Amino acid sequence: MASILIIDDEDSYYDLCTRYLPEHNYLTPARNFREVMEVLRSHAKSIDLVLLDVHFDIPEAELLPVDKTELIARYGRKRALERLRRSQGLRILDGIRRAYPDLRTIVMTSREDLPLEADAQRLHAEDYTYLHDEEYLDARSLKLLIDGVLAQRREDPEAGEGPFFWGGTPRMQQLRRRLTIIARGRLPIIIQGATGTGKSLVAREYIHPHSGRAGPFVAVDLSTIPTDLMAAHLFGVTKGAYTGATSTREGVLEQADNGTLFLDEIGNLSLELQKSLLLLLQDGRYRAVGSVKEKVADIKLVVATNENLASLVRAGRFREDLYMRLNPATAVTLPGLAQRRDDFMQLLTFFIRRVADEAYNRDLLLRYAQQRSLQISEGEAVPVTIGRSVPAQVNPGRIHLLLHPNSFNQLREFSWPGNFRQFEMTLSNILTFTLVELVERAEQIEPEAIGQNVRADVVPIPAKVVIELLRPMAELHRDTESDEEEGQDPRRVQVEVVEGSTLNAVSCAVERQYLETLYIRLGGELSALAEVLLGDATAGRKVQIRMNQLGIKLRSLKRRRAGGL
Ligand SMILES: Nc1ncnc2c1ncn2[C@@H]1O[C@H](COP(=O)(O)OP(=O)(O)OP(=O)(O)O)[C@@H](O)[C@H]1O
Ligand SMILES: [Mg+2]
Repeated sequence: MASILIIDDEDSYYDLCTRYLPEHNYLTPARNFREVMEVLRSHAKSIDLVLLDVHFDIPEAELLPVDKTELIARYGRKRALERLRRSQGLRILDGIRRAYPDLRTIVMTSREDLPLEADAQRLHAEDYTYLHDEEYLDARSLKLLIDGVLAQRREDPEAGEGPFFWGGTPRMQQLRRRLTIIARGRLPIIIQGATGTGKSLVAREYIHPHSGRAGPFVAVDLSTIPTDLMAAHLFGVTKGAYTGATSTREGVLEQADNGTLFLDEIGNLSLELQKSLLLLLQDGRYRAVGSVKEKVADIKLVVATNENLASLVRAGRFREDLYMRLNPATAVTLPGLAQRRDDFMQLLTFFIRRVADEAYNRDLLLRYAQQRSLQISEGEAVPVTIGRSVPAQVNPGRIHLLLHPNSFNQLREFSWPGNFRQFEMTLSNILTFTLVELVERAEQIEPEAIGQNVRADVVPIPAKVVIELLRPMAELHRDTESDEEEGQDPRRVQVEVVEGSTLNAVSCAVERQYLETLYIRLGGELSALAEVLLGDATAGRKVQIRMNQLGIKLRSLKRRRAGGL
């Protein structure tokens, strides 16, 4: 249920809404700008949405603007008033925006001769619509609009809800709508996208909650399970099925019953198991390893891959019949960060808030706030904003991070091969390095001297911090490209001594080559790598994540391995 304010000179929209959309709470409609401001003064915080008419047939004294002399001089009284009545809603919206820039508004009219689009955009209305004076149709289209705007609000980063950030671009909104629809259905879902684009996150935090299924969400990363254990892991095993099967164990299929089973990196499934999965999708039945008894599983299957499944099919590595069963017509591809430049500012805001809440950064922010006597209470998330300019008003309750326009451009134009994962880490580093400097310097000087900073609520991010964090990653990326050449001793790592290269860049380059070489030598088994590096064969995922962060492309390494390096 949402709280909705209707601004209209007549009762028709109010009647329509209360009759057909009774699930919401409607305030008494406001008839003119003065009444609007009165309601907003006391209720703005609790109002979720405003529905605003455009044409207002109201007395001259109630019309905006208050001073009409110029218009009357230009058009004559009659025509001037007619013009004002025709577009009064837009003038009201303009007035609202000055005091309440964030109030969500849908502009609507039943007069098709009023061009709305440009004005609605200029005044930042969330949406606009032409109604048709046909009760049922109007109610339906209003319902769709209202639901759409309210859903956006729920996922708005400002509201702090929903861990998956969609953003407001039509492309992402369309993707979200599509996922909402296919999440509910019975059919499997394929999610594609490069590393770090949020495939796992969207499966867990969006698809499963929208599936309406009561059972659990169970995720299995097939790239980290040794091939010979995969069948038992998925389907379960009965005691004595093979040497070592000392007890009967249930598989993930059983655990995910009535829920969602997420098979990550589906390209790693052996051809044999692909067959078993196909049978399961065909009639919902399967057998545990070593068992003759059939079991039934009611699961919603979601699979993810950063390879292209269709090309795996063409290469003979993935069964075509299974591919067709996975419902490829609705496959969803999540865009990488480099394709999200049009809503980069919102992404920046979303992720900077997220990293500001990491323990270390939070602690730094709180120390910074204490040193400068900013009113931020401990124990709460420190409210941060980020932007390219200094906000006009001091807001002692929050910290504004000031990004130099050049830094903003560098961040936006960067190629981000590790996508959101890499972005989040970089922002976390930027915040840490910026704050550590300020906090530690402040501890070395007289406390009174600190207060002299006029805008304690504004923290400038040094351009140097951004450059130094991006440089090693840019170099890394360049290396990956040129490194396809052969002729090196595969057991040696090589570092080029370049003046101006930071130590961080050097150690990343070494680490990357070391991991690549080891990966190839250990036959491409992440578990073996994890055993060698961390002493824990089950930590393959950790190694994989680190390799991703370093920009290592496992696919091209696999090719090199196949090439006999
Ligand atoms: N749209 C998004 N909104 C919020 N966080 C995101 C989004 N996309 C990715 N992330 C964050 O980026 C990181 C990587 O996401 P995730 O693990 O889901 O990616 P992935 O596509 O599954 O990567 P991989 O192919 O390497 O498994 C996570 O920390 C996740 O929270
Ligand atoms: Mg993943």
